[in-house]
Amino acid sequence: MSSFEYRNGKLHVESLPLEDIAREVGTPFFCYSTQAMVNAYNSFSDALSKAGVKGTICYALKANSNQSVIKTLAKAGAGADVVSEGELRRALAAGVDPKKIVFAGVGKKPSEMAAGLKAGILQFNVESLPELEALSQVATQLGVTAPIAFRINPDVDAKTHAKISTGKADNKFGIDIPGVRRFVEQAEALPNIAIESLAVHIGSQLTDASPFKDAFQRLATLYKELKSAGLPLKRIDFGGGLGIQYNDETPPDLSEYAAAVSEVLEGLDAECIFEPGRFLVGNAGVLVTETIYVKEGTNRRFLIIDAAMNDLIRPSLYDAWHDIIPLNQPAANAQLTPCDIVGPICESGDTFAQQRPLPEVKAGDFLAMESAGAYGAVMASNYNTRLNAPEVLVKSDQFAVVRKRIDYDTLIKQDVLPDWLS
Ligand code: LLP
Repeated sequence: MSSFEYRNGKLHVESLPLEDIAREVGTPFFCYSTQAMVNAYNSFSDALSKAGVKGTICYALKANSNQSVIKTLAKAGAGADVVSEGELRRALAAGVDPKKIVFAGVGKKPSEMAAGLKAGILQFNVESLPELEALSQVATQLGVTAPIAFRINPDVDAKTHAKISTGKADNKFGIDIPGVRRFVEQAEALPNIAIESLAVHIGSQLTDASPFKDAFQRLATLYKELKSAGLPLKRIDFGGGLGIQYNDETPPDLSEYAAAVSEVLEGLDAECIFEPGRFLVGNAGVLVTETIYVKEGTNRRFLIIDAAMNDLIRPSLYDAWHDIIPLNQPAANAQLTPCDIVGPICESGDTFAQQRPLPEVKAGDFLAMESAGAYGAVMASNYNTRLNAPEVLVKSDQFAVVRKRIDYDTLIKQDVLPDWLS
């Protein structure tokens, strides 16, 4: 059974009609399915096991860092990939085992490094010499050793949107392969650093397996070379990036992905880390919205909805596609009319879809924007002083608001007037 499907003419999440939640919580709101997240986690983990790959799945919190989402995945067995002290704190607060936490990111500050070292995390993925020098200094001050991975930039084109591509030489990420040996020498001379691992992450929403294969191959070759040169490597971090279906893409299936990993692991004797974000939560969430007005423009019909680019910025930022469907199931032979689906924000970029064929939608009708579980709520803002869309978690026939909509007073009181204005 799919976690989001029409039953008795109503779109359900697990056993609940989304419309019931909409009437109780108010729109817009994000709604996540526990079952969909756990299924995604288990299918990832099963595919690795079937391919004979042993590894820790460190969920990339950046995709959705709600405490209840992290905890759901942690209970299923996940660790965490964090990129800030905030995410580290969220992972620890949700009970993730520090020995399953990796700390990535190009710009970790010394205070953030100290937080990771104090928590005793598994590894820091290091991306530059100045960063490594800072880490060595912080670790020395704390009297501990920092376990690290070199994040390698394999110079591979991930064939995804330019804004989320990270593995080309021109991207700010990672250490280029020709420069690694010099980097290793410099690293070995630094105190309180233990070089344990190599890491890679070439981009997000990959829908083609070949860039993964290229990058993993380059990483494995380097791993072999460095290990036989005496570097005590024991782990490979394969990053995240596995795409999901938003529209008509066909991302690599899990067995193909796992096979790409197991192929390069031959003879390496390495533990593995994976950092999937979108794959675990993307299709486990929807953004539910109400149609405010149907406006007939000169040559377009606009559906003006109560969700906006501040709630889900992906269409505005990356021209991303999200399926948009009514909560009430349309008749199989319903006539479709092209509509522009737009939010209330005062810029034309606040558009979710253009000329999207939809059945008749009236003011007051609820719609669901699909695949909104990843990079949705976490990228939201209060632009136009709009209240945040709350988040709801469903488990079977129960639901809970797992992040509230804050009220206007609280929002406005975050600003503080200086003495001379009060
Ligand atoms: N590991 C690292 C080092 C990353 O930078 C990322 C994502 C991941 C793991 C998780 O990647 P995933 O499995 O989710 O593809 N806001 C964009 C996506 C940005 C991804 C940034 N890095 C979007 O909405 O498409």
